[in-house]
Amino acid sequence: MKLSKKLVILGAQWGDEGKGKIVDLLSADYEVVVRYQGGSNAGHTVMVNGQKFILHLLPTGILHTHTVGVIAQGMVVDLELLVEEIKDIESKGISVKDRLLISERAHLVLPYHKTLDALLEKKGKIGTTLRGIGPAYMLKHARKGIRVCDLWDKDRFYSLVKDNLELVEELCKKVYCESFEMKAEEVVEKTLENFEYIKHCVADASNYLLNTKKSILFEGAQGVLLDVDIGTYPYVTSSNSSALGLSAGTGLPPKFFSDAEFLGVSKAYATRVGEGPFPTELKDETGQLLRERGGEYGATTGRPRRCGWLDLVALRHAVNLNGLDGIVLTKLDVLDSFEEIKVCVAYKIEDKVVDTFPASVSLLEKAQPIYKSFEGWRKDTHGATSPEDLPEQALSYLRFIQEFTGVPVVMLSTSPERDKYIWLSYEERVGSSNIG
Ligand code: IMP
Repeated sequence: MKLSKKLVILGAQWGDEGKGKIVDLLSADYEVVVRYQGGSNAGHTVMVNGQKFILHLLPTGILHTHTVGVIAQGMVVDLELLVEEIKDIESKGISVKDRLLISERAHLVLPYHKTLDALLEKKGKIGTTLRGIGPAYMLKHARKGIRVCDLWDKDRFYSLVKDNLELVEELCKKVYCESFEMKAEEVVEKTLENFEYIKHCVADASNYLLNTKKSILFEGAQGVLLDVDIGTYPYVTSSNSSALGLSAGTGLPPKFFSDAEFLGVSKAYATRVGEGPFPTELKDETGQLLRERGGEYGATTGRPRRCGWLDLVALRHAVNLNGLDGIVLTKLDVLDSFEEIKVCVAYKIEDKVVDTFPASVSLLEKAQPIYKSFEGWRKDTHGATSPEDLPEQALSYLRFIQEFTGVPVVMLSTSPERDKYIWLSYEERVGSSNIG
């Protein structure tokens, strides 16, 4: 399988699609790996030689020691967690600090962002990861954010933190009648201590990416349906987690991506954490079975994930609005023992049948899924590595997904281990599939 020199991997659902493993696998063939939106709300799990890694801020591809990792300008970075993450990976024998670039334009997540996140959650639950992501983007867009480049000037950094604290304290007190105490000096000292550890990584990352001749893999975090503009707003994250976030998040011109390949990762069923509409959610035994068999508990928060059947209306929305060239399907084996497997092909909303993804949360909340049913294969596909290992019923399931979304299922992941996957398209370029 020959992929383009520029590859973009996006989550095509509500996050947790298993992007970590796919990025880890594909980044073996890439020289630069980039994260460009979100922050430590992400939790990308990778199993390497039986050892488990969960990456929150670093690009997953950094686990390959030949790569250069980039934390691009669209991310919001919690330096304390970043330093912890680097130390943890380095303690497992993988060097990081000498191959990492951090954009000087990236914004910081500081302790009061997390305090505000918790308070906002108390007043209206989105089910956030409480990592301070929303408030960091909120202050960024209010032009009150603090960036990595501000850390070079201690006095300026101190005065920005002081201003931020006054603003956040006042907001909490006056609007939410809650007070909290935090000392600017302590925030500054602790942050600068962490900065000392990574300051040699700070760079003009956009220029680096623009000028490098190396192959680049861009790793989306969260998923398309959590995108602040095209997701299930307001039950979304605060960044553009779809392809829309690429240009602003990397600082690269949109034209840069005209020859890139875009792959969306989706589970063979659906999950969501946090609040918000989820038309195919199963609150019954079948949902419980999916959760148990799929080990559906959050990598960042440990929360049990909501589970349901694959929603092809939502997946087609992700394919179309992101210009996906193909789908990577994960966790097919979780469906192995089901007698019947369903996919949603339309919604019934107030007596109308709709086969597009509504913008309005109130319509999505009313949406009753219309299902197409498939006979289960009831055979073990766990760890399968060849298309010949797939039962005919599983192939029919995959063919229907391709037909409905209009793009090929190019790859299947059949276990968390690095080497357990199947390429379904052997063409030079994504765009056709060998399963019909
Ligand atoms: P936030 O990004 O922490 O503000 O959370 C906003 C919403 O996005 C919540 O529903 C979270 O559960 C969800 N979310 C954020 N990051 C992830 C992720 O990496 N995987 C799955 N859901 C996420």
